[in-house]
Amino acid sequence: MRVLLFTGKGGVGKTSIAAATAVRAARQGARTLVLSTDPAHSLSDALDVELGGEPGRVATNLEGQQVDARARLETHWRRVQEYVISLLSHGGVDELEAEELSVLPGLEEVFGLVDVRDHVAAGRHDLLVVDCAPTAETLRLLSLPPALGWYLQRLSPLARRWHSVIQPLLGDRAAVPAPQPDVLSAVEALHHTLDGVRDVLVDAHTTSLRLVVTPERVVMAEARRLMGQLALFGYNVDAAVVNRVLPDEVDHPFFTAAKRRQQDLLGELEDGFAGAPVLNAPLRATEPVGADALAELADALYGERDERAVLHHGEPLRIEPAAQGWTLRLRLPFVEREELDVLRRGEELLVRVGSQTRSLMLPAALRRGEIAEATLCDGELVVRLMAPEPGEATEPSSWAGSPAAASASSTGDVAPGPTHTGGHVS
Ligand SMILES: Nc1ncnc2c1ncn2[C@@H]1O[C@H](COP(=O)(O)OP(=O)(O)O)[C@@H](O)[C@H]1O
Ligand SMILES: [Mg+2]
Repeated sequence: MRVLLFTGKGGVGKTSIAAATAVRAARQGARTLVLSTDPAHSLSDALDVELGGEPGRVATNLEGQQVDARARLETHWRRVQEYVISLLSHGGVDELEAEELSVLPGLEEVFGLVDVRDHVAAGRHDLLVVDCAPTAETLRLLSLPPALGWYLQRLSPLARRWHSVIQPLLGDRAAVPAPQPDVLSAVEALHHTLDGVRDVLVDAHTTSLRLVVTPERVVMAEARRLMGQLALFGYNVDAAVVNRVLPDEVDHPFFTAAKRRQQDLLGELEDGFAGAPVLNAPLRATEPVGADALAELADALYGERDERAVLHHGEPLRIEPAAQGWTLRLRLPFVEREELDVLRRGEELLVRVGSQTRSLMLPAALRRGEIAEATLCDGELVVRLMAPEPGEATEPSSWAGSPAAASASSTGDVAPGPTHTGGHVS
């Protein structure tokens, strides 16, 4: 089973390219499902068929689905949300405001992706093609499963101890609404679901992300930033698609300068997009709508290539033993040194790129290592972790300890805060 996820800025052609890829794969015999998590019904428009909330037949070997992300959000989040609202209301927040605060931005799209996990588990298809919402939301949503998982992982053992530990401490002085057992099981189910989604998305053998761009400098610059962020969270981008490239037939003098500018830009991508191949799709005189037009677009895009193959393997994270410790290598293409920070906190290594932070749970052997050096070289972050001298004091233990110990330690939040080890990247 393969999953191809198309993302990029709004209007660049994600939906068209996703639909085209699906049509081509289906015509080559792959049992294909193309789905959109974007509430705008443009996948339906591109395929020129009505799509429903469940997979429905589009053509031979091809099914389509317009995922109702809002309904999925209701299913998975409602019970937890009700509890969050009750807590906020207890804290004096007005009911309407509490309702608004209880839905994190981007959450809806995350739950749209739960269907991807379910289809992978069901195994009824050879290929899933996902047309994602525009860049900013997609990035947020893609980084949410780990971030939310991190949060929930800490919330559930704490909440389970509520009745035995926390409530007695509070006495009846503070009648904070205690989470009911069904809230706890809802939190646990949610955690499990999001873990499943993330596992599918970061499995580079199953899932490839393809970044769609247009041959314009600003779009390209934005895609570079996105690429760095995606690498940070461990997603494999296996190709960049440059859509709407002016074809050779266009030889009106009016377009001469535009064509030259596009050629220059494409020339800059000669080494690929951080190693990933760059595929070009020509600008069409008419909108590519319907299976035949989409198949033509896909043929121009992939040529002899197998659209279902993993076109590039980025191998984002590697850990190797080294003299006196370990070396951790993380591919971070297009990331600038100034926006990068590496910190160690307990058993986590926090890598921060701009406003995004990824928490890497270190393998047991590395948890006592100190950051000796962090360097950024050729789009790769290299962190040297030194093994402690034998007999040296060990690090404070993790969240597995008591809630009191946990809240007193510095592992409470991914937000900037006190850290055990901070490393400036050189
Ligand atoms: N290569 C192309 N040539 C001509 N029109 C295109 C091409 N790719 C996309 N379009 C048209 O551009 C518009 C936006 O494309 P769409 O795939 O909906 O973008 P996105 O999903 O990124 O918002 C649509 O009307 C689509 O038919
Ligand atoms: Mg679209």
